[in-house]
Amino acid sequence: MSTETTQNKLKAGLVGFGMIVDETYRPFFESVHETGLYQRATGPIEVSLDAVATRTGSRAEKYLEERGEKVGGFESYAGDNAIEEMAAAGLNFACVASPDDRHFDSCKKLLEAGTHLIVEKPSVLKLQELDELVALAEKNNVTAKVVYHKLFDPDHKKLRTLVYDDVLQHVNNGYCSLLEPKAISGKQFAQWITGRNPGTYVAVHYIKLIDFTFGGKLKTLTASGQRGLVGDKDGPTWDSCQLRMVYEYESGREAAFDIHTSWVTPDNFPGYVEQEVQFRFDNGLWNGHSRKRGVECTVEDKTPFEIKNSMNNHFNGTFVEPWNERSQRGYGIEVIEQFAREVAQIEFGGPESERQQRLEQIRSLSYNDLSADRQTVATVQALEAILEKHAQGEPDCVVRVNDDKGGLVLYRPGSTEAEVLYEGTV
Ligand SMILES: NC(=O)c1ccc[n+]([C@@H]2O[C@H](COP(=O)([O-])OP(=O)(O)OC[C@H]3O[C@@H](n4cnc5c(N)ncnc54)[C@H](O)[C@@H]3O)[C@@H](O)[C@H]2O)c1
Repeated sequence: MSTETTQNKLKAGLVGFGMIVDETYRPFFESVHETGLYQRATGPIEVSLDAVATRTGSRAEKYLEERGEKVGGFESYAGDNAIEEMAAAGLNFACVASPDDRHFDSCKKLLEAGTHLIVEKPSVLKLQELDELVALAEKNNVTAKVVYHKLFDPDHKKLRTLVYDDVLQHVNNGYCSLLEPKAISGKQFAQWITGRNPGTYVAVHYIKLIDFTFGGKLKTLTASGQRGLVGDKDGPTWDSCQLRMVYEYESGREAAFDIHTSWVTPDNFPGYVEQEVQFRFDNGLWNGHSRKRGVECTVEDKTPFEIKNSMNNHFNGTFVEPWNERSQRGYGIEVIEQFAREVAQIEFGGPESERQQRLEQIRSLSYNDLSADRQTVATVQALEAILEKHAQGEPDCVVRVNDDKGGLVLYRPGSTEAEVLYEGTV
């Protein structure tokens, strides 16, 4: 067991400095800078944000100027070689929070530099990319993890606990929906929205929730979508989409799940980000609704824009604690802190000679390890392929998983021809 010394320090880097950084990574780094991390096996650990890599550097440098002392200052890297420069800074771990379709390159460079990695959801968009990252993490003796903060939502933890304990038995089917306001597609993501869809962006939370909570083998994927608001009605950019996943369990019985997402809901709708799930079991029913469990608040001239009508105080809220300290906390921040604890455990949780065992133990955590993200990435890859075919004038394709032609195989209606999206076993 290591002793309490000031050498126990983790140097961190961050790729991207946008909306999610503001909601979760920034508050995490500010709070950990102040308090450090403590676990009995590691003793106190200092965590510092040493490097930030972004496209232009503007938001990161503005923060550095205005509040940089909150994280102890960092080096800002921008432009084409930002990731390489950051990766060369000798970091222990890095968080990748750039747009969905730009995760892979950054992750690869960071893992190549021997940096522990955590990437925002969706981790990557193709199983081929996932394979490469998992192999690199293995080769360089580091972890590669993904953030699915909804697994830390107390309601979802309770659902999983009831399933895990066999209180809720065999899921038959279910639906989930997640509605984002127009401002997300129209303003927030305007710079990278072309060719994107809200399913990859947010359905992925529920894809993972279903995959992680219920287990089973993914069999079939279908999807549809609508266009015409964010982009052209015949173009590649989607307003909303509907995904269906079919799973088979050890008993040979199946379940189907529908996930509906949109990022064109009117900006003033009271739900703001509205999330709903319903799962039907042999012996029960689970209904979860972000507004029903939450609060509704109106403040003249402030809601729903500056303050949300139905705020999710469980995800990430700013508070005055009962002892009058200000804080920002919630499961969105906890999930990053937990990753930092896992890295600390690997590096400082015992003698160097046992590092490999600790690394393997942390890799075996299937809630966040990239090696356990296969069925989720397969679903995202299939969804993207089906929507792409739809945009090319061939709607209603079906993707089958692990059939005799390959791991992920796309079929067009009325055609016997198959397109193999991924050869290996999912
Ligand atoms: N977990 C959640 O609930 C949640 C919510 C929002 C976003 N996200 C995820 O976080 C990621 C970022 O989303 P966001 O909302 O912060 O987006 P954003 O558009 O607000 O910010 C993106 C950031 O990435 C930077 N960037 C863009 N291209 C880059 C590149 N090639 N290299 C380095 N930096 C680059 C930009 O400069 C910007 O700082 C996405 O993967 C998204 O799916 C997760």
